[in-house]
Amino acid sequence: MKKFKWWATLIVSAFLLVLSACGASETSGGGEKKKKLRVVTDAAYAPFEYQDKGEVVGFDVDFIKAVAKQAGYELKVEHVGWDPLFVEIKGKTADLAVSAITINDDRKQTYDFSVPYFLSTNKILIPKDSDIKSAADLKDKVVAVQNGTTGQEAVETLLGKENKNVKKFKDNNLAIMELKNGGADAVVADNTVIEEYVKNNPNENFIVIEDDGAFEKEFYGVLFPKESKLKVEFDKAIKEMMENGEYAKIYKKWFKVDPDLTELKT
Ligand code: ARG
Repeated sequence: MKKFKWWATLIVSAFLLVLSACGASETSGGGEKKKKLRVVTDAAYAPFEYQDKGEVVGFDVDFIKAVAKQAGYELKVEHVGWDPLFVEIKGKTADLAVSAITINDDRKQTYDFSVPYFLSTNKILIPKDSDIKSAADLKDKVVAVQNGTTGQEAVETLLGKENKNVKKFKDNNLAIMELKNGGADAVVADNTVIEEYVKNNPNENFIVIEDDGAFEKEFYGVLFPKESKLKVEFDKAIKEMMENGEYAKIYKKWFKVDPDLTELKT
């Protein structure tokens, strides 16, 4: 009887020790420390996310850090690439993704999105002396896009799905490189990204043209695995930040102007 008690105590205390070790980093609520979230991104899309001295920086990074803080979380942002980020969220090996990701019906079937946090549209990046004047002029041109983006989709709607003239790249910087090297006549990508590129590289003689008729309004959202409990907490935090001026502060840091928050209300 005595012997049995001794073993029982040992087993119970070992069990409790393991339990507390597991729980330590995962407890939530009640002012206790919450789990550190893993955020994945494709850091080749300045000014939203890019690498600077080995660090992932950009509007999205400042934004998601502030949202997480508001919701009571710490996080780590990791560059994994565009296609891999969707794989990670689907497989739940990451908690969320922020990567200038457009909310659309196709993606909504597999993922959950936060409320919209940024308005965007596709535009066309071309050399100054190009004869391309609208999206319709892309028809017999070679167009470089980032694979798996709304830009690719929009161009394939114009040129046809199996069209060899649509050159697809794993990130947007490679698509721009192709244009620079003369392998493409145009790049189609999110307006803010290519406008920023033109502004930062005035010597390359590129311009950006728009075509409202061909390219729709898009809204960025934070990407979560389906049924993630984080969505509700993050939506609440985003709305709070839009009201308390924190969102505007971050927006102004990156875009130098005040955001128009009414346009985010769909
Ligand atoms: N907004 C576009 C889309 O969702 C392009 C986003 C690309 N983002 C990136 N970080 N490369 O399809």
